[in-house]
Amino acid sequence: MRLNNPAMKRILVIHGPNLHLLGTREPGIYGTATLSSINAHLKKLAAKRKVRLSVMQSNVEGAIVDAIGKARGRFDAILINPAAYTHTSVAIRDALSAVALPAVEVHLSNTHTREEFRHTSLISPVVKGTIMGFGPHSYYLGLEALIELLS
Ligand code: DQA
Repeated sequence: MRLNNPAMKRILVIHGPNLHLLGTREPGIYGTATLSSINAHLKKLAAKRKVRLSVMQSNVEGAIVDAIGKARGRFDAILINPAAYTHTSVAIRDALSAVALPAVEVHLSNTHTREEFRHTSLISPVVKGTIMGFGPHSYYLGLEALIELLS
């Protein structure tokens, strides 16, 4: 397999604010897996399924908006956990709408079982689907879903 096979689909993985703290952040809600262990597993799955992954994490809304804005032409799809911005960010929603790449939204926790302010996602209406409540498996299922969508 060539490393830079242009036929390989490219997926951008975006982790939103505070997800770099996974492992120690509210483990009763988010579990004990670290972000780097989740990323390592995603990379393994991607290699098996012959897709290319780029992974980023940012606590800055504008950096996420920039990354999405630059994704067209560079990536075929987006896997995103917008974290707290899920519930607040018109800018991230508009960026996803603007680039019109297939996207899947994931959450570790089931936000509908939590505080009321987490029940609304501004992102869900502009993605292909949302997977939540399965801890790190939400990401793995989300990646599988995107690969199916692209195939
Ligand atoms: C989260 C849920 C959000 O409500 C929260 O702000 C997060 C993480 C999740 O993965 O469960 O930071 O997106």
